[in-house]
Amino acid sequence: MSMDAPIRPKIRIESVNKSYVIDGQQQAVLNGIDLTVNEGEFVSIIGPSGCGKSTLLNIIAGLDQPDSGSVELSGVTGDAISGDGFGGGRLGQTGYMQQKDLLLPWRSVLDNTILGLELRGMPKRQARERALEFTEEFGLKGFEHQYPYALSGGMRQRAAFLRTMLLDQDVVLLDEPFGALDALTRVQMQEWLLQLWESVNKTIVLITHDVDEALLLSDRVYLLTARPGKTALALEVGLPRPRHYDMVTSSEFAALKSSLMGPLRSQVLATRSGGQSG
Ligand SMILES: Nc1ncnc2c1ncn2[C@@H]1O[C@H](COP(=O)(O)OP(=O)(O)OP(=O)(O)O)[C@@H](O)[C@H]1O
Ligand SMILES: [Mg+2]
Repeated sequence: MSMDAPIRPKIRIESVNKSYVIDGQQQAVLNGIDLTVNEGEFVSIIGPSGCGKSTLLNIIAGLDQPDSGSVELSGVTGDAISGDGFGGGRLGQTGYMQQKDLLLPWRSVLDNTILGLELRGMPKRQARERALEFTEEFGLKGFEHQYPYALSGGMRQRAAFLRTMLLDQDVVLLDEPFGALDALTRVQMQEWLLQLWESVNKTIVLITHDVDEALLLSDRVYLLTARPGKTALALEVGLPRPRHYDMVTSSEFAALKSSLMGPLRSQVLATRSGGQSG
């Protein structure tokens, strides 16, 4: 991005509250969340299990609505009160890889990866050709015509990741995309994502439990508190770009890591001692 490119918020979340009925009681899940992602930024969200991370991504994608507060995506605001149409107008505006891979069992791996393209009206043949250009890079080569049940968890995850990236949206939401991968494949996919992000102007929000992953990839890391989630810390990651995996051993990286690990640990402990079952 050039020096004088204006900084525009691509996603702006203000005072968002959300509650669900959990164990028969209405319980707050998100409590006054504020979060901003500027155009072209890479932002990660980290926080204890059950603190509302996936809920927040569902809200950004328009699959769910906040009880109060406002959500702005690409300059369009949908708030809880105005009832501005299904999904606050946000549905279909993002590439969203959900935490569950949601592969269709009756479709081959290849046909699962092209689902988004097909829904958008691309002829199947053209969509398949496009997907086949990437199957090697995504470690799916040779498995294109298998069905999801025959795949390992890591492979299913890579198929879902490819499906999301083929949509080529300028906002991409990734909910623990690499959680089921072995360490080596994980690093390989992180580097692939870094390269992709550095070469095109995409805005990415990534949920992860992996502190190294969050720091290595992001411009900023948001740490959420234990449920109900609110922003506990927004850590700017000033590491130089382009980034490489070797940076995880630098002293700068170690300093960032320790400033994140302390607060994260307290939040995780708060979850355990809070007597929550979710
Ligand atoms: N549609 C829903 N209806 C009722 N409760 C829900 C719903 N979605 C989420 N919850 C509850 O809200 C809380 C937050 O869930 P969420 O999936 O957002 O957490 P998370 O931070 O993504 O956790 P994890 O790290 O384990 O994926 C949980 O207690 C969950 O059970
Ligand atoms: Mg989740």
